[in-house]
Amino acid sequence: MRENAESFHLAVIMDGNGRWAKGRGLPRLMGHRAGVEALKRIVEACPRQGIDYLTVYAFSTENWRRPSQEVRGLMGLLGEYIDRELERLRENGVRIRVLGDLAPLAPALAAKIRQSVAATAANRRLTLSLALNYGGRQEILRAARALAARALAGEDPAAWREDDVAAALDTAGMPDPDLLIRTGGDLRVSNFLLWQIAYTEIWTTASFWPDFSEAELGEALLSFRGRQRRFGGV
Ligand code: IPE
Ligand code: IPE
Ligand code: MG
Repeated sequence: MRENAESFHLAVIMDGNGRWAKGRGLPRLMGHRAGVEALKRIVEACPRQGIDYLTVYAFSTENWRRPSQEVRGLMGLLGEYIDRELERLRENGVRIRVLGDLAPLAPALAAKIRQSVAATAANRRLTLSLALNYGGRQEILRAARALAARALAGEDPAAWREDDVAAALDTAGMPDPDLLIRTGGDLRVSNFLLWQIAYTEIWTTASFWPDFSEAELGEALLSFRGRQRRFGGV
């Protein structure tokens, strides 16, 4: 995917796990389990496809509204994913980052996630950002608070640029996504990366996340390559 020496950032709204399960007469959690398998496949495919940054929406700030059994199941799967995959991710040069606020998660799970971030901090082949308890508006609110604290400490906000806001977000230091893929057929952003997707190209699939394949990823990338990004110019 790399054109010039620039890095490529793919963001994914992994949607449709519940409907995938329903269509098979299975409980929703089985859909999430199949979704983890799809995530593993796509993580492996990314370096082959020239993707340097993969950012996936795993749990939104709004997903707490789901039945507590489903929330518990999702958290359990997350812990399982890290237990089972961390070593392999580490060996494959994957750096794990987290977007979102880990504070409301169970302390043991939050600690496990922080350890996985620390254990992979030196890796550069692929940066896998897990958006967990993530919401774009909440992220912007947290950044606003951090900037306000700097102003109270004496900095002059008039001197700030867009980069100062970007650096206060959870994605600090990362390029903005080049392409956003949403599976599951819905045409909405659902509070994902609101600041960062200002000029991101969008691709949606009717297929549900557990069925998303490297071939479909290839299709999305092919479409992306054929587009002209104007960034407001001519
Ligand atoms: C996306 O699948 C996964 C998460 C939100 C964690 P859904 O669970 O939203 O699946 P649908 O949209 O109900 O089919
Ligand atoms: C977005 O999917 C969140 C994740 C994929 C984690 P949702 O299923 O929560 O989004 P809505 O409710 O359809 O907007
Ligand atoms: Mg959904």
